[in-house]
Amino acid sequence: MTARTKIVAGNWKMNKTVAEAISLVEQLKKDLAAFSGGEVVLCPPFTALASVAKLLPTSPRIQLGAQNLHPAAQGAFTGEISATMLREAGCRFVIVGHSERRRYFGETDAFLREKLLAAVAAGLRPIFCVGEELPDRESGRWPIHLRSQLQGALHGLPVEVLSEIILAYEPVWAIGTGRNATPEQAQEAHALLRKEMEILHGASIASPLRIQYGGSVTPQNARALLIQPDVDGLLVGGASLNAESFTSILLSVE
Ligand code: PGA
Repeated sequence: MTARTKIVAGNWKMNKTVAEAISLVEQLKKDLAAFSGGEVVLCPPFTALASVAKLLPTSPRIQLGAQNLHPAAQGAFTGEISATMLREAGCRFVIVGHSERRRYFGETDAFLREKLLAAVAAGLRPIFCVGEELPDRESGRWPIHLRSQLQGALHGLPVEVLSEIILAYEPVWAIGTGRNATPEQAQEAHALLRKEMEILHGASIASPLRIQYGGSVTPQNARALLIQPDVDGLLVGGASLNAESFTSILLSVE
């Protein structure tokens, strides 16, 4: 089995002014001074990226990510931000296909595929999110849904793109609801995703692929999720907005 470095990302969503972002990152830097448990990625809103980038040392302990990008290089796309702009702002990562983007902004698998290509071409590592809604979980159809999301966005992508992707399993029913997937449910879904990636793209992509779990992660449930063999990290929303809870989640990686 390939050893996979754990990677924990904080998705701040549409939260934090620049001043609030700076104060949170300053606290995290203090709290995580001795942290060596894996990679940490902070994904503030666009407006705070440049200020947060200035606070982060060039060391890879805490890295910067964006929450979204537009696939075009530039042009008449009012309100959008390109991969090159994100790189310039100091980002190394970008979240692609979060369920809130799919649900509220109608993002399709085909569009997400374009985003993945654009992100990697500009030197960003995509955190690509998949996850089923509650009816698919309850009817047992969730594996079909996950397979279709993987195939829809990743089919035919070159190895150079696939090898940069970090996958995030985020069951929609667990996001912001306080109802996390159990460690067993997470492990089962992650194992299925890895198996499907192996079938689609081969073991050389599937075995080193890091798969994060996201959905109501807290300091209380982080460790039980992280010790599952196919859970290689976490994508944390609400609990990443507070230095104490995010630090305590990170410490459970060690
Ligand atoms: P949550 O969000 O931790 O607040 O459930 C996770 C996410 O949406 O990435």
